[in-house]
Amino acid sequence: TTRKFAFATKSKSVATMAANQEFTGNLKRQLEKLFDVSVKATAPDVPGVKPLIDIGKFGDYQCNNAMGIWAKIKGKGTQFKSPLAVGQALMTSVPASEMVESCSVAGPGFVNVVLSAKWMAKSIENMLIDGIDTWAPAPPVKRAVVDFSSPNIAKEMHVGHLRSTIIGDTIARMLEFSKVEVLRRNHVGDWGTQFGMLIEYLFEKFPDTDSVTETAIGDLQAFYKESKSKFDSDPVFKEKAQQAVVRLQGGDPIYRKAWAKICEISRTEFAMVYKRLRVELEEKGESFYNPYIPSVIEELNSKGLVEESEGARVIFLEGFNIPLMVVKSDGGFNYASTDLTALWYRLNEEKAEWIIYVTDVGQQQHFNMFFKAARKAGWLPESDKTYPRVDHVGFGLVVGEDKKRFRTRSTDVVRLVDLLDEAKTRSKTALIERGKDKEWTPEKLDQTAEAVGYGAVKYADLKNNRTTNYQFSFDEMLNDKGDTAVYLLYAHARISSIITKSGKDIDELKKTGKLALDHEGERALALHLLRFAETVEEACTTLLPSVLCAYLYELSNRYTTFYSNCQVIGSPEETSRLLLCEATAIVMRKCFHLLGITPVYKI
Ligand code: ARG
Repeated sequence: TTRKFAFATKSKSVATMAANQEFTGNLKRQLEKLFDVSVKATAPDVPGVKPLIDIGKFGDYQCNNAMGIWAKIKGKGTQFKSPLAVGQALMTSVPASEMVESCSVAGPGFVNVVLSAKWMAKSIENMLIDGIDTWAPAPPVKRAVVDFSSPNIAKEMHVGHLRSTIIGDTIARMLEFSKVEVLRRNHVGDWGTQFGMLIEYLFEKFPDTDSVTETAIGDLQAFYKESKSKFDSDPVFKEKAQQAVVRLQGGDPIYRKAWAKICEISRTEFAMVYKRLRVELEEKGESFYNPYIPSVIEELNSKGLVEESEGARVIFLEGFNIPLMVVKSDGGFNYASTDLTALWYRLNEEKAEWIIYVTDVGQQQHFNMFFKAARKAGWLPESDKTYPRVDHVGFGLVVGEDKKRFRTRSTDVVRLVDLLDEAKTRSKTALIERGKDKEWTPEKLDQTAEAVGYGAVKYADLKNNRTTNYQFSFDEMLNDKGDTAVYLLYAHARISSIITKSGKDIDELKKTGKLALDHEGERALALHLLRFAETVEEACTTLLPSVLCAYLYELSNRYTTFYSNCQVIGSPEETSRLLLCEATAIVMRKCFHLLGITPVYKI
């Protein structure tokens, strides 16, 4: 059976739109609201049934509640004879709504929902006027911390940190789009015993530390390696390095100054990578939390959490076979003491309601442990989905074509700068092959090569489910066909040029033009556009940027289908179709923005 909705058929009779009929940016939620009414009416005796809405196989969406309700009422004197009958009742009691064209019941009681094309068109027209920010999701938090990138001073900024930077930036961008205030935190490893040997080595090589510049040191990683091998081979040096740690931690001004110098050199190196990637971060490194550690440990101690074990102080946690060490046997603090303190600071001083940590999955146990300790201390609610909330966003290794940990030819770690250079050079070569060097100024060529090259590196990373290892391949990511940034950026450029070619003033059209979705290709594209907000919301709640990438790729495919079936320029539907092109370009650009990719307008 099918039920046509009066509103949709006799559209003239609709004077006003009820609150749940105006598109608020999230189709799925709006349908949930409608079906909430019908679920309650159908199963008044079964409390707490939530409407289950999914993208549909037959309709645009489907409501999947019939089977669940049936399971609960079967054999309890119900008037219904089958799940199908429950589905029918669900359909009948959906309040009439302008957004729904018709419903039908199929199989064991699925209610298929067909949205009204008129309503869909109106919603997109509204977005074209009011802007895409009206489609932003609204998560239940005001302020969040995203702790990402977080390389270690002098040690190495490897591809793992690149992944953290790219994934963290996207998560921050999605939350920012959702009007959450995001504190983008670079928790750099700027403290620890390695500084003893680094400082001693610095003193040896450059007696006048003040004049030391980045170029004098050259590569800080190499510097680290040299000092490490000296530390391992020279007992006198080792002894000195160990004393240096004590002096540094005791606050000796000369040692502090040398420490600051090393950090500064590292910082300049990191900044270069961030600038290229257009990623903004505020550094609050491990050392920032030092002054707060003793009182935080004391608080945990006073709550009875801290115990003595083999000279160290630890927290025993249920479900873990090792305790969490918070004070080392020499009285020093470690990674966990700092992280507990940083969490305390973020909750109490920065008043963050959601704290998200982006590191490789290898650190999962560390996070699980100190999260658990924080719950035990009563800093966080027991349930991990309740706010204030913490999440560890773990990602897999970057592997090379040989499926082993990614390395370049010469060195054992990949320098990020070299990697970005190569991405840019390769995409520039591809542009020159297309003759762009003759059409464009050198600046434009350079900018486009950067947008495409860096975009390709980012997208190749983000499109994978982050928890799996990911195989780094320039050839694959720079392919202009398939699921790559290159393909998507070119698709966007083509849409832009169609709009330009039409010679129409698109901003004027947006204000007055009407959208019609009569062709199947138009409708399928429009429906996908309207799913943008629920996709961003899903990507935020699952903390999976890949969800957004899959959406973007599908958008571009639906656009292709539309474009190959529907003539735009010169057709009777030109205005409507140009508006659909523009809406697609707007949503694509927003996706690029959220993924940290710079759009290209001409190719
Ligand atoms: N510096 C660490 C590393 O390179 C990552 C820090 C992540 N953030 C944190 N709060 N533990 O592995």
